[in-house]
Amino acid sequence: MSNTAQAENTYNSGLATNCAVDAPPSAGAHSDQQGALSQALHLAGAALRGQPGSAEALASYTAILDAVARHEEAMVAFGKLLVACANDAAGQSSALKRLIEIENIAATRLDQLTQVGLLQSWNEELGKPRHADPKRLLRYGFKVYSQCDEDGIIQEIFRRIGTTNQVFVEFGVEAGSECNSVKLLVEGWRGLWLDGQQQLIDQIRKNFKPFIDNGKLAASQAFITAENIDVLIANAGVTGEIDFLTIDIDHNDYWVWKAINVISPRVVAIEYNATMHPPVSVVVPYEPNRTWNGTNYFGASLEALVRLGRSKGYRLVGCNFAGTNAFFVRDDLAGDLFLDPATAEEHYEPPRYYFGYLKAGHRPQPGPYVTV
Ligand SMILES: C[S@@+](CC[C@H](N)C(=O)[O-])C[C@H]1O[C@@H](n2cnc3c(N)ncnc32)[C@H](O)[C@@H]1O
Repeated sequence: MSNTAQAENTYNSGLATNCAVDAPPSAGAHSDQQGALSQALHLAGAALRGQPGSAEALASYTAILDAVARHEEAMVAFGKLLVACANDAAGQSSALKRLIEIENIAATRLDQLTQVGLLQSWNEELGKPRHADPKRLLRYGFKVYSQCDEDGIIQEIFRRIGTTNQVFVEFGVEAGSECNSVKLLVEGWRGLWLDGQQQLIDQIRKNFKPFIDNGKLAASQAFITAENIDVLIANAGVTGEIDFLTIDIDHNDYWVWKAINVISPRVVAIEYNATMHPPVSVVVPYEPNRTWNGTNYFGASLEALVRLGRSKGYRLVGCNFAGTNAFFVRDDLAGDLFLDPATAEEHYEPPRYYFGYLKAGHRPQPGPYVTV
């Protein structure tokens, strides 16, 4: 029996009798009904899985399922549709279409609620006394193209220290959709992107064609190690002082930053492992070919990066709210522009990786804009 047929049988025998979808649920009946609906939703998923052409609906099904199950009004509407699917074979396809529409509404609503929740938790944090000092960078964070709030922090750092040649180097750029240097690129900076995966570089060449064509962006595939990073950067024609270096390769970040000598960035952003709280100073042992395995075993603690930064002439000036990126400014530029002391204890932000759900208005498209 196909999944669809199996699900239809179950709707007919179970759902229509278990779910009192025409009447508002009473408090006592609510949890029974929720359980029955939740089961029915899973079965509806199975039914959709059996429908050719429903792949799009399926892709978002699991997440939406949870949203709908929590939303009573949608649950009732959902239940009605499932009953219609079960009892009216002729009307099934229009009922399923409507069901998919409701799924989309529920997904949008969940997304909006998520955004509100993220902004609330951010505001709560910023309301704490430690953020009263305007030198602390966290309050300047915002997202345009960066993964989280990095774009705003980077803007504030350069507002304080100024810019010189407006050149960046970024590696671990994925497809360029959530990088720390996209906003700078859009604003007229130029630079180099490196990533180990050719298909990501191919996507970048397509999505950032205007910037590549006008010579503002060079993007190359390269698997970076501590041994080859200086050569890779120099071969791209970048040497000496540049404004910005940003590193996010998810494992050997510490060792690769340590090995860079061919450029002298004024500002460095580097991913830290926030699960290792200060004062712990640890880093993964150097294994040149190793990449992230999806666990919290990666990179270096903030304290380890502070120590490395000091040895290279850099001072920690802040971390972002998500607890993913640490920002360093070269000692000769920092002066009294940033919050003291420049320690891991002072600037540490815990892992708030859920902040990665933060959106910046509509779906991002990186220009090109014209400066006026
Ligand atoms: C987490 S992603 C970076 C995401 C991006 N910075 C962002 O904020 O969304 C890590 C990227 O680093 C790349 N990568 C990992 N190890 C690398 C290495 N040794 N050399 C070059 N790229 C590497 C991966 O291909 C992947 O695109």
